[in-house]
Amino acid sequence: MEKRTCLAIVLAAGEGTRMKSALPKVLHRVAGLEMLGHVMAAAGAAGADALALVVGNGADKVRAAVAGFSHGGGKEGIFEQKERLGTAHAVLAAREAIARGYDDVLVVFGDHPLLEADVLSKARASLAEGAAVAVLGFRTPEPTGYGRLIERDGRLVAIREEKDCSEEERKITFCNSGLMAITGEHALPLLDAVGNDNAKGEFYLTDIVEIANRQGLSVVATEASGESALGINNRAQLAEAEAVWQDRKRREMMLSGVTLIAPETVFFSHDTEIGPDTVVEPNVWFGPGVEIAANVRIHAFSHLEEARVESGATVGPFARLRPGAEVMENAKVGNFCEIKKARIEPGAKVPHLSYIGDAVVGAAANIGAGTITCNYDGFNKHRTEIGAGAFVGTNSSLVAPLTIGAGAYIASGSVITQNVPDDALAFGRARQTTREGRGKLLRERLAGQKK
Ligand code: UD1
Ligand code: CA
Repeated sequence: MEKRTCLAIVLAAGEGTRMKSALPKVLHRVAGLEMLGHVMAAAGAAGADALALVVGNGADKVRAAVAGFSHGGGKEGIFEQKERLGTAHAVLAAREAIARGYDDVLVVFGDHPLLEADVLSKARASLAEGAAVAVLGFRTPEPTGYGRLIERDGRLVAIREEKDCSEEERKITFCNSGLMAITGEHALPLLDAVGNDNAKGEFYLTDIVEIANRQGLSVVATEASGESALGINNRAQLAEAEAVWQDRKRREMMLSGVTLIAPETVFFSHDTEIGPDTVVEPNVWFGPGVEIAANVRIHAFSHLEEARVESGATVGPFARLRPGAEVMENAKVGNFCEIKKARIEPGAKVPHLSYIGDAVVGAAANIGAGTITCNYDGFNKHRTEIGAGAFVGTNSSLVAPLTIGAGAYIASGSVITQNVPDDALAFGRARQTTREGRGKLLRERLAGQKK
């Protein structure tokens, strides 16, 4: 079969005032990615060759955000809908793109973060089979607020917005997800025929169903999951979408070979990658940009973002991997350790209570409990390099910039301010003095002074 070209139009001109936010609605995040990013990714995965984004008047924040997405606005770019006159009117803001002549035109809403690519592909398949318009419907026991799909003799004849429904029509539970696929050939004539004679006085995209029927074109309704239709209007719904997304991802992770002991307590980002036979203990948070290899153990209560963990390594419990943390093969980052912009090389250990930032910890080095890299002087960040096999005694402060050679020893409790060569032993603390009997004398004196 010949490949059909496809334009995806993403409507994002919603005001979203019910989010009670300074941020445009479509830029609120699910799994660490803007809702708009999810929708654009789904359109891309369904084979859209170009994306046309319709934004509201002066939606500069949306423009700026889109530049960062993987489908960065596509080649058709961003269109402004100057007045919010309805969904058909919004689609027509991208008239210029539609007119370029794609085989398929997909219309999706920017606030539907759970939209999946296969749902869109299904709609495109209907077009390939000869439909002029394909609508994705879903069934719900609570249809309030949704447009109803009106069928006659098994054919979709109209979509009626709730406000325009008769008492009878309101009982219909087959609803419009909002998602629509139109052949490029029919898109503009159908959209141009839409009027605004309805309860809201808006130009409804959904009206093209009736218009197409009148023209004898084939219109089909395909069933999608209710999740694809979950449009987010407030933060309660945002949390609902997050919960559904997390459940999907947990399942996907487990089916791909990752053990989650208490899956409901583990939270992923849109781009989290974990290899098989890795075990994630309860209460772990993965921020964006985390890549975990196979055979890793992430102990309970760890927090990771923009970090890499290689095979055989262990992290946590209660570890924090911040951006730029790299824990290499068989290395260990133990409890109450924070690692930032630092590479812990193969077999190295940072087992307890440490802050390691802007640093390299060489292979098989051992970092004693409570070791801190003093990387910041209030103005600049400085690096610490610790050689392979070095041993840093507990409770040491390593004042950067600093190099500690391979195989060097640092005495416990040191404050190290100067470079230490390979295989050297460095002390950076006051020498101990011990006075026989003086402890007892001191105690007696203090007891005599007590009031
Ligand atoms: C829409 C559908 C309804 C469906 C529901 C599913 C229409 C007329 N109705 O209703 O059948 O059941 O979604 O969630 O399509 N938008 C613009 N410009 C506008 C108006 C809307 O960009 O002038 C965008 C919004 O930002 C939003 C989307 O279009 O992303 C849907 O608009 P909204 O007003 O939320 O439509 P609903 O009433 O929810
Ligand atoms: Ca809506």
